[in-house]
Amino acid sequence: MKQLWLVTVLAILVVTGCSANSANNKAEMDGESIYANKCSACHGENLKGAVGPPVVNMANKYSDKELLKIITEGTDRMPGNLLTDDQSKIVTEWLMKK
Ligand code: HEC
Repeated sequence: MKQLWLVTVLAILVVTGCSANSANNKAEMDGESIYANKCSACHGENLKGAVGPPVVNMANKYSDKELLKIITEGTDRMPGNLLTDDQSKIVTEWLMKK
């Protein structure tokens, strides 16, 4: 009986541990969360701009490559290197659809 209790507790720890991990990975790995964490302070929660310019309709203005370059390297007034390479690609792809 004691053993069964222990197994149950361990199972619960494993399950909650895993789900907490996958939630963290997801936060870093989908465009919306990355944008919310790293970009929205300057570009606004709804992409309509704040300190920085609006970033809607970027696909009309830039190619994927150009957008990725802005996001990875920054510009005169925007800091670069805010994201990992993977995150930059994900955000670029996400933003091209906005
Ligand atoms: C510290 C504030 C700041 C942060 C953080 C920031 N940006 Fe910017 N961003 C700017 C400013 C300011 C400009 C205008 C740059 C210029 O004119 O040189 C800009 C320009 C841009 C542009 C080009 C817009 C255009 O119309 O040419 C894109 C795209 C962009 N940012 C995306 C992002 C993304 C994606 C992130 C998150 C990884 C991000 N920015 C984070 C301030 C910021």
